[in-house]
Amino acid sequence: MHILILGANGFIGSHLSEAILAKKDWHITAMDMYDDKLSACLSHPRYGFQCGDITVQTAWVEQQIQQADVILPLVAIATPATYVQDPLRVFELDFEANLKIIRHCVTHQKRIIFPSTSEVYGMCTDKEFDEETSNLVTGPIAKERWIYSTSKQLLDRLIYAFSGHRGLRYTLFRPFNWYGPRLDNIANPKPGGSRVLTQFLGNILRGEDIQLVNSGSQKRCFTFIDDGIDALLRIIENKNGCAENKIYNIGNPQENVSIRTLAELLITLVKNHYPDFSKQATQTHLLSIDAKTYYGEGYQDVELRVPSIRRAEQDLGWHPSVDLQTGLQKMVCAYSSHFTCLSTTE
Ligand code: UGA
Repeated sequence: MHILILGANGFIGSHLSEAILAKKDWHITAMDMYDDKLSACLSHPRYGFQCGDITVQTAWVEQQIQQADVILPLVAIATPATYVQDPLRVFELDFEANLKIIRHCVTHQKRIIFPSTSEVYGMCTDKEFDEETSNLVTGPIAKERWIYSTSKQLLDRLIYAFSGHRGLRYTLFRPFNWYGPRLDNIANPKPGGSRVLTQFLGNILRGEDIQLVNSGSQKRCFTFIDDGIDALLRIIENKNGCAENKIYNIGNPQENVSIRTLAELLITLVKNHYPDFSKQATQTHLLSIDAKTYYGEGYQDVELRVPSIRRAEQDLGWHPSVDLQTGLQKMVCAYSSHFTCLSTTE
């Protein structure tokens, strides 16, 4: 099998690349503007890497789509602060650039595995979100946070329509707060500059207070990257067509914790396992901040976001296996090589 990964240097792309090379005999062609997360892959004989921008090297991208069996377009902005601050850039990259890739997959009749998102469910009040029955609920237009959710939702709808009317073969997967090594840059001190886990870890290591948006009572189901990648490998493999034209929530419903609890877990972890940083962790206090002050007017939060994973369990034989405590330890351990550079840049 020949797989094309666009955005291979990202969090998901880099872990997927490594897992495929380690566990499968598949060939990968990959593109990204950077390659710093791909050091374990670049010299591998089954890995062909092209440094470039999918919005610029369009002829190369189309040619590679023609040659591949499966296409994973993973290029996207996925940081909520950017949805509010630069919604047009989110639309142009996440929607417009990816629509071109989807159209090429239709033209050349190639199977696409596309990253939808847990964000498509928005403020849905279901206790568990179901891929086929839950409503997708977003806020008013002035709440620009929803540009990401609605861009992804429309792409999901287009892929579904292309499948029904033009024979596109697809699988959509919806990650629920995947986390792990290489998530975001913990050295970025800007509030909202990264997703919550890397944001909090950076705060703790710098001895800064953690800002809990709306007191941190909102909950997320945190899913360790290895579990997410395991699901993706099963989707790509598509044994007996099990993932053909399906949508899957990929999340860990057991690990449904509040953002406040997450902050407390991280502080305790750093205090107990990284004595060089226990002073900073002790200095870190939890402060409550209102969403408007932290993100701006265009933000609205999601209070509860629990996936039903029944369909992934049944079709793919997949189940998440890494609990939050273990996953956080693995993540912090992987980031610990950056700790010294953080403390010397203070
Ligand atoms: C994320 C992002 O939109 C995407 O990465 C992704 O598609 C999706 O969810 C997912 O991974 O499932 P969200 O969970 O809201 O959305 O993003 P985070 O930045 O990780 O924030 C989680 C929660 O922590 C939010 O309620 C946010 O307000 C809160 N937060 C964040 C704080 O309380 N303090 C901070 O400093 C940062």
